[in-house]
Amino acid sequence: MNGNVRPESMTRISTPELAEAFINEQIAEIKAQVGDRKVLLALSGGVDSSVVAALLIKAIGKNLTCVHVNHGLLRKGEPEQVIKVFKDEMNANLVYVDAVDRFLDKLAGVDDPEAKRKIIGKEFIDVFVEEARKLEGIEFLAQGTIYPDILESDGIKSHHNVGGLPEDLKFELVEPLKLLFKDEVRVVGRTLGLPDGMVDRQPFPGPGLGVRCVGAITRDRLEAVRESDAIVREEFAKAGLSNHVWQYFTIVPDFKSTGIRDGKRSFDWPVVIRAVNTVDAMSATIEPIDYALLAKITERITDEVKGVNRVLYDVTPKPTGTIEWE
Ligand code: XMP
Repeated sequence: MNGNVRPESMTRISTPELAEAFINEQIAEIKAQVGDRKVLLALSGGVDSSVVAALLIKAIGKNLTCVHVNHGLLRKGEPEQVIKVFKDEMNANLVYVDAVDRFLDKLAGVDDPEAKRKIIGKEFIDVFVEEARKLEGIEFLAQGTIYPDILESDGIKSHHNVGGLPEDLKFELVEPLKLLFKDEVRVVGRTLGLPDGMVDRQPFPGPGLGVRCVGAITRDRLEAVRESDAIVREEFAKAGLSNHVWQYFTIVPDFKSTGIRDGKRSFDWPVVIRAVNTVDAMSATIEPIDYALLAKITERITDEVKGVNRVLYDVTPKPTGTIEWE
């Protein structure tokens, strides 16, 4: 596909048959562009990079190297899912980098939100560059750019995700999804055999759980974010809300309050639940959650998540609140 403009005649990919046709066309284009040369991809496990990976694996197999950086700020089960789906099931050439300690050590004691973002962004590029330089003969870089990224090049994603690769790693780009909208990417992903949990994922910020562990990140509070987030996702799924609410997650602020547990006073963190709906993430409304569901989630979080004694529901729209807390 040439150019960055979606032709008006292009059919919206809404069925497996249309996705199949798109996949075949892209495989031919990728083969024509890349031949038997090597391609590198930063695979976060998000929808876009996962679909690019699955497409390239089909087109060029082991000539694609996927690098998955675990920065310790991913949601529960995500790194394991990337390994299972891409390495075990699709037999991909996957480099898994456990950079958890490296990121958390760099972030220790840093409480300024912008400083945290900068560290996470810079460290991510550094780790990726180190891994890329270990590889021989790479000539292309694949990216999960989608059409809204091109249309809104000054929008949310580019506003948040700054940083670039050094000159020696500025490879020719392979961007097979660049004319697709998100819903089309999901249909293509499903047709390529990716699991629903991966294809239907809600948006997740680059700095991950780091912006939800408010203030200076500690491992125990980060664990409270991860575990409470997993409970909210599980309960939303059971209640049939996963594909109905745009984004939902938990935040753990860096203060404690008094509570009571087993007849004794406790001094623990609160967990804040946030569930929002939006069209473009520039403004957002609050999902009115059924009280029984909130009560159930509260009971599970206070029972199962270490160091937490309260659960709050954030009812602030954007504006005045941003969607994330940092
Ligand atoms: P805010 O908090 O600005 O978030 O209302 C708007 C949307 O952007 C997501 N977000 C990010 N996405 N990198 C991203 O790719 C980031 O650094 C980042 N920070 C926030 C946020 O999850 C919400 O969907």
